[in-house]
Order: sequence, then structure tokens, then C-alpha cells
Amino acid sequence: MTSPFQPSRRRLMAGAAGLAGLALTPELAAAEAGMAMAADWKIAFADLDADLAPRAMQRLRGKAPEGLAGTLYRNGGAKFRRPKGRATHWFDGDGLIRAFRIGDGQASLAARFVDTPKRRADRAADAVISGGFGTEAGPGAHIASPDDVNAANISIIRRGDTLWALWEAGSPFAIDPATLETKGLVTLRDDLAHAPFLAHPRFEPDGRIWSLGQVGDKAVVWQVAADGALLAATPITLPMASYIHDFTLTDRHLVIVLQPWVYEGRSVVPLTSLKWRPELGTQVLILDKQDLSVRRMVELPTFFAFHMTSASESAAGDIRFGICASPEPDFVIRSAVDVMSGTYTPASQPKLALVTLPLRGPARIETTHVTAEFPRTDGRNPGLNRFTLHATAQARARPLFQGVGVYDWTTNKDAVFDFGPDHLVEEMVFTPRPGSSEAFDGWIIGPTINLRAARTELHVFDARHVSDGPIVSWAADVAVPAGLHGMFWRA
Ligand SMILES: [Fe+2]
Repeated sequence: MTSPFQPSRRRLMAGAAGLAGLALTPELAAAEAGMAMAADWKIAFADLDADLAPRAMQRLRGKAPEGLAGTLYRNGGAKFRRPKGRATHWFDGDGLIRAFRIGDGQASLAARFVDTPKRRADRAADAVISGGFGTEAGPGAHIASPDDVNAANISIIRRGDTLWALWEAGSPFAIDPATLETKGLVTLRDDLAHAPFLAHPRFEPDGRIWSLGQVGDKAVVWQVAADGALLAATPITLPMASYIHDFTLTDRHLVIVLQPWVYEGRSVVPLTSLKWRPELGTQVLILDKQDLSVRRMVELPTFFAFHMTSASESAAGDIRFGICASPEPDFVIRSAVDVMSGTYTPASQPKLALVTLPLRGPARIETTHVTAEFPRTDGRNPGLNRFTLHATAQARARPLFQGVGVYDWTTNKDAVFDFGPDHLVEEMVFTPRPGSSEAFDGWIIGPTINLRAARTELHVFDARHVSDGPIVSWAADVAVPAGLHGMFWRA
């Protein structure tokens, strides 16, 4: 696939071939050295030492589309190392809220760390003492509740006029959308203070959300209004104490995939309590939204997954959704540990798959050949949307992805734009074209890290023509570490 991001490299190689047999000039030597040296992926996992004041981004190419205005908010760990000790897992960096603002044809970037008790304690100790998902707590840590370990570093949503920075084993942190200042912990009900709240709530068309808070085989099902008010918190018992990162819903049911990566033991570091038990298979718990005590279970073969799509349910009760499935959780167990010490251990690639749960008869998972993570949909329509946006093209010899894809479930075709090996692609999101109600008519927005130029870039695609490449790209004057999840809030 032709990439507008690689012409200089191609020209360089053509030029080098033409010069074969000639004296090696300093310029040619430098060019060859540059070609031989892979761009350094480690900047995607480096530390950002301070907040980023708002700064204009430089337009690289193209033109911002008419009608596109708003802010892409993103979250992800960005501070992992301190002089006297570091996080040992990628998921344990301090949450940094990035705000990419687009308006009047221009873009800017600002970023601010979430002011968590964990960050304060670690700064005071000059070490990462608070621990986390995969990092042991250190000497001097005072952990009275999960929120003393809460890095607020996975995702960000909006409730009323406030942003919520979400972790998954503790409470949301309220963030000011204009200044990115931390306003404090969100306590939805006093007797449920510090209870977990997943980073992947599911949205109803009216803006209500569902979320889960899980501890082992116990969970609370949260329902929260668009303005942030608690509507319900219902305790449930899970049939298997699986690691749950995401779930999905239909218009009638919650669908909770229980993979055979299960909590055993009582370590305060979740990763060391989780055991991979492939012999158990995957179970799916289906709960009636009207009465959460009404449930059914179905079984699937063993797989591991972080993320899934919205789900459809037919009149007959058959449920379908997409999921990014791997054979095992080796990325999170090994690769996400190794990147913190600057080494890359390849892991199994997540593939987009279709899960079908018939009301009667065996459930099934059908795996495509499409490498996919960070699945997103149009968002306006419930159900399994025709198009799933995702990161793709797993780079060789370094972690994460270098392409963005749009999978069409009606044709089973994946439209892809590959940025090439110099870019590390983060999660991208969809926002509709103002005034259009047509499915997936709008824009795909998201950042890459240009590893060779050591800078974060922001790209906008026409969602229906992702293969054509970005219609506009901007560059920041800094590389922000790779983030996880975000959302676009229209101005
Ligand atoms: Fe996630």
C-alpha cells in the first residue's frame, strides 16, 4: 500500500541504489545508517516529566474538514520511572489526560496528569511505591483502599459538565474539561466508596451508562445517568472470577465474557493473582437488563480478550458481537512487562472475531484474519454496527500497531491505512459529520507517535475512505507516550 509517510525513505533508497559503486560520501553513509537503524519505539513508553501547557500543532498536510470542531480527550499512563524505583508493568504509569483541540482549521495539544493519591505518594517517595495492576507496592506505601493504587490511566468519559478519568479497580476521578484540573474522586454512593468501576462503560442511546465493579467473583452493576447521577448499583455473583476489562450489551441484555484468566490467591497485585486456566473454557454470562437476577450462561472455546464491540440481539434472542481475541494473555503477562525495561517480547496477535450466542444451540466464535485492537464503532446506533474501526498492522520487532482499519461486517473486508514502521498508531475514534444521520458518515480521529521524528501527530480521516490516508495531519513539538482510550467531544 502506498503511504505518503514514506516517500523520502523510498527516494533515499532509490538514490542509494543509483550511487552503488561510487565513493561512500559522508552524506550517503549517514543516509545508510539512518535506513539501517530502526526508529526507536521506546519513546512510546518513556516518561513525561511534567504537564504540557497548551501548544499549537503544526499542520503537516491537508486541510481540516468543514464542520469538524471539538476535543479528542485521551488517557494513558505517562510516568513510570522515578529515581528510587519504577513501575514494572506498562499499565501502571500515572494517568495523563491529553486534550487535542480542533477548531477553525487548527489543532492544539495540552496534557495534564491526574492528581491521584498514588501519584502524590510516589512523588513524595521519589519511587513508584504504590504498586498497581502488575507492580508490587514498595516500602512506605500506605494502601487503605483501592484508590490509593488508582492510577486513573485507562480511559475517559464525560458525565454532565465533567470528565471522568477511569481506571478499573477503583473510582473515577473528576476532571475539568477546560483546564484538565483534577477535581477529586467520584463517590457514587457512600457505602460504595472506592468500589471498582470499569474503564469501559457501555452507553444507552439516552446517554445512560452501565458499568461493572468487580472483586473476584463479586461484582456491582452500575447504572449512571448522563449527568453523573447514580441510578442503580446492583450486586451480582459471577460464576467464574475472571479478569473483566470490558463487556457489552444489547437492547435487552448485559453480556459479560468470562475468560479463563481467573483470580486465584489474594495478592494485592492483580497480575500475580491471575492464573491462565485454558482447560476451563470461556463462559458468557447474559443478564436481563430489567431484572439482573434473571441470567443464562453459554460456553465458548478458550480465548483471551480485552475489548469487544456493541452487540445486536435478534427478535429470536440470538446475540452477536465482535471481539478482539488472542489465544492467551501473553501480551499483558510478558510483553507489557518487558517494554518497561526496554525490551520487546512478541506476543500473540489479537484477531477480530464474531461471537454468536443463539438462544438455543451451541455458541460459536468465528475468527477473521484481521489483526485488530481498540475496536470502536459509530456510537450513535446500538447493536453490532456494520463498521468496526480498529488499530491494525502489528509492527515487527516492536510493540503495538502501525495501521488503522475499518472492518465491514457485511463484506468481511478490512479497509486499511498503514502509516509504515516509523509510526506507532494509537486508538482512533469516530465522530459523525454534523447534520448527517447516515451510518459511519464522518471522521476518524486519532494520534500516532512518529518515532523517527520523535513527535506526536494527530490525523483525521474520512471514515468511509480510510485507505486514502489522512485528510489532514498535524504535528506536536513533543512525543507524548502511547495512550490507551479516548473520546471526541464535539464543540
Ligand atoms: Fe481497554
